[in-house]
Amino acid sequence: MDNDLDLETLAVRAGIHRTPFGEHSEPIYLTSSFVFANAAQAAARFANQEPGNIYSRFTNPSVTALQERLAAMEGTEACVATASGMSAILACCMGLMKAGEHIVSSRGIFGATVQLFDGILRKFGVETTFVSGTDVEAWKRAVQPNTKLFYLETPSNPLTEISDIAALKEVARAAGAWLVVDNCFCTPALQRPIEFGADLIIHSATKYLDGQGRVLGGAVLGSRELIMEGVFGFLRTAGPTLSAFNAWVINKGLETLKIRMEAQSASALELARWLETRPQIERVYYPGLPSHPQHALAQRQQRTGGAIVSFDVKGGREAAWRVVDATKLISITANLGDTKSTITHPATTTHGRISDEARAAAGIGEGLLRIAVGLESVEDLKRDLTGGLGA
Ligand SMILES: Cc1ncc(COP(=O)(O)O)c(C=O)c1O
Repeated sequence: MDNDLDLETLAVRAGIHRTPFGEHSEPIYLTSSFVFANAAQAAARFANQEPGNIYSRFTNPSVTALQERLAAMEGTEACVATASGMSAILACCMGLMKAGEHIVSSRGIFGATVQLFDGILRKFGVETTFVSGTDVEAWKRAVQPNTKLFYLETPSNPLTEISDIAALKEVARAAGAWLVVDNCFCTPALQRPIEFGADLIIHSATKYLDGQGRVLGGAVLGSRELIMEGVFGFLRTAGPTLSAFNAWVINKGLETLKIRMEAQSASALELARWLETRPQIERVYYPGLPSHPQHALAQRQQRTGGAIVSFDVKGGREAAWRVVDATKLISITANLGDTKSTITHPATTTHGRISDEARAAAGIGEGLLRIAVGLESVEDLKRDLTGGLGA
């Protein structure tokens, strides 16, 4: 497949290897293992002397189809799919790092990622320094001789802070570290981190790539060398690989990614503008609004502001919970990236298990709410929020 094709075309055409049955849609390969013609072929496959599938913990054609499509869309040489977004981050670190090395990470990242770095990896001798995702000088100061990885999300979860990928790539390059970007909020439909210099891209495919809240999945993308010689070896041995069924579901999700992202972003912008006019709201965080501190950078780096809108409700936790509890349409659930809009109180859910200090440093207050805007009509969403915010 010619990877110079446009994203819309790659989303429906890349990664297809039609079988002799001539099926039009992508098949699902629900099989744990693959048969060999004879003992010599089995030996050759295990010895890596002949390409081909062996066992679905290593490779599976449905998973390969997703990997090829997603790599084409992100513009990277290689991709490995994983069982979840968290296992993608774990595989990236375990595959590319060793004890005694160091991560510099943005503070504005998903709560479980903070715990993975600060709790689990620390136990195995990998230290992390957390800095502001928007302060390039702070990243320079945090570099140590053993720094191996720079890690960020842009826009960040839940405050939609925008990190300057190109500027941080320069700092990472000077430090001899790889720059890893979690592209969960934008997806390749809105932002391709590789074009700004990222070395590795992480996805929670659970979110917009599936896009309909059905399955968990993840992916790590980058150069063939980093992915195949670094990350894949860990996955193949340790086993947090993606199932064939989930790969198929996510692959079909990719086909509608761009139109969903555009429609959901347009609704998010309209909702954010409306929220800014509500007297009960202290502040709205949305990269598409001129009031966002990194609005200009977002316009350079992303095609739209994305579909996540966060806002501080006056009156702290009590007032924020009142807004959540008054919704009848918007789902009260921690997931995002669905066609159904969702509302979350980050301080007591997604970011509830990190320390109070870390939460305060990340700017996640008790009045903060995050809405992941879906495909409902914006007027219905406004009406639903009016219950808790007042008309
Ligand atoms: C930005 C981001 N990265 C990673 C993850 C982890 O993904 P998963 O839940 O698929 O493990 C999430 C989950 O919400 C997320 O929001």
